[in-house]
Amino acid sequence: MKKKDSITQSAFIMQEGIQLDFAVEYFPSVSKKIVTSRSAADLESNVERNVLEGRYVDFLSEHPDYRQLVTYVPNKTIPIYNWFKFKEGFSRQLVINLAAKFGLQNGAIVYDPFVGSGTTLLACKELGLAAIGIDMLPAAVFVSQAKIADWPNRDILLEAVQKLFAIPFKTPNSTLPQIRIISLAFPAEVQEEIMFFKEQIDSFERPIRDFLLLGLLSILESVSLTSKDGQFLRLVDKPIPSVRDALQAMLLSMISDLSAMRALTAKAKGKASVLLGDARDLCLPANLHGNVDAVITSPPYLNR
Ligand SMILES: C[S@@+](CC[C@H](N)C(=O)[O-])C[C@H]1O[C@@H](n2cnc3c(N)ncnc32)[C@H](O)[C@@H]1O
Repeated sequence: MKKKDSITQSAFIMQEGIQLDFAVEYFPSVSKKIVTSRSAADLESNVERNVLEGRYVDFLSEHPDYRQLVTYVPNKTIPIYNWFKFKEGFSRQLVINLAAKFGLQNGAIVYDPFVGSGTTLLACKELGLAAIGIDMLPAAVFVSQAKIADWPNRDILLEAVQKLFAIPFKTPNSTLPQIRIISLAFPAEVQEEIMFFKEQIDSFERPIRDFLLLGLLSILESVSLTSKDGQFLRLVDKPIPSVRDALQAMLLSMISDLSAMRALTAKAKGKASVLLGDARDLCLPANLHGNVDAVITSPPYLNR
């Protein structure tokens, strides 16, 4: 990797004590301190980490005041940010605070090499900044792309939703993959409903198909007998709504969220895009090399 001088600001936000140290090595002119929230116990238990800590200590600063902001919790009630709940995400407010702290002005370019659920991209778009992100997980790219997309207007989306729900249930032609976690998580009739809607959604044209599919992806946890527990799924005995009801409610709520977001971003003129790729390849488009003003990201956590 070639060292870059032009990145002037960088924030690597940690939730559980893991730190992405290569950043400072490859972005030597980072002028703001890297923000972390690490526990002393984590460092003591890891000799290699202590060595790295020593090398980059001048670039680190602890921000216990960001503790609430480095979680997904504040996003849960914010339109669009709460599409497809992603426990490993950080908050919109964190990006807003860092953009202000770094003095980013309209048009400044922000890079997020680990996009996840797209929080950095969406917040930058809202702020009138230009954001580009990468993730190696196709589902993360799909969800992030959906959050930053300029969707067709409300009437077109509503018409598509009406059309989808006017189709009476019939036994789907295909089944979900028959693996243990799926049979534990979804009762047989729920699996059939999911596949029925998936097959109907596939018959719509893009971009409507992507919108409907995101709705279906977003309700999977709510119609399953699971709940997220850290990075694992816990099996729970709970009443679950029908896929039809949950999907309809989700899609209508997404359409109403878009109206709210359009009102917020009408004047902002921010731009965001996301690419499928491996951040380790530094696969940023060539025209952005040397032109990124800030990196706001949270890397994958290596503690499991
Ligand atoms: C902690 S999440 C990012 C959360 C994000 N800040 C948010 O608010 O939603 C880390 C992301 O890094 C992605 N990832 C892991 N290794 C990667 C790599 N080598 N290149 C690109 N993305 C990677 C994972 O797929 C995951 O989506």
